[in-house]
Amino acid sequence: MTQAAKKQGIATIIDNTWATPIFFRAHEHGCDLSLEAGTKYLGGHSDLLMGLVSANDAWWPRLRKTYDLMAMLPGAEDCFLALRGLRTMHLRLKEAEQRGLEMAHWLQARPEVLKVLHPALPECPGHEIWKRDFTGSSGLFSLVLKPEFTKAGVANMLDHMRIFAMGYSWGGFESLIIPFNCADYRTATSWQPGGLTLRIQMGLEDMDDLKTDLAAGFDRLRAVR
Ligand SMILES: Cc1ncc(COP(=O)(O)O)c(C=O)c1O
Repeated sequence: MTQAAKKQGIATIIDNTWATPIFFRAHEHGCDLSLEAGTKYLGGHSDLLMGLVSANDAWWPRLRKTYDLMAMLPGAEDCFLALRGLRTMHLRLKEAEQRGLEMAHWLQARPEVLKVLHPALPECPGHEIWKRDFTGSSGLFSLVLKPEFTKAGVANMLDHMRIFAMGYSWGGFESLIIPFNCADYRTATSWQPGGLTLRIQMGLEDMDDLKTDLAAGFDRLRAVR
């Protein structure tokens, strides 16, 4: 895809926050610019406000000029947190990968779940692309519930979780779960998952506690039909 864009003189930009450069080498795959929300795996503790962008040789002069013109400088404390986060990022990502896979397999076996959307699972759409281009997977993935479950059931499930919190910004030490529906903003394809969808961010809590929390949540989901 990057080759096709290059032929037309189009710059390619990737949001590489999910994989980070540890699991996807964006510039080696031909991307001109690569963005990363430092708020996620770089900081790892949901307390860092920073965004990062890197460029290949062709785009670096323009990126540097834009940076100088906009004068968007991060704060000293954010730089401190980013540099500290970098030192353990590879370990946290590997842990997120292992936990994400374990939970994805556990969820696949749950009777309430229609499918798990995790690119490292062979059943997941896009798995072949992930296998070709990525060297690992992080701890953010989704699941689709069976069609018989309702929004009221999901509310009953999520309102009473003990460990999984509801929050948007992932990549930290806490596990999160939110309902989502990307039908409104997905334009390249139509979004028809087959049931209500939940996004999961794996944090660093005890795995058995997390499974117990989800299992109790599924009990509450089933209680409302
Ligand atoms: C893939 C991805 N990239 C970037 C962002 C932006 O993060 P922030 O708002 O912390 O800059 C998000 C936020 O959830 C995200 O999911």
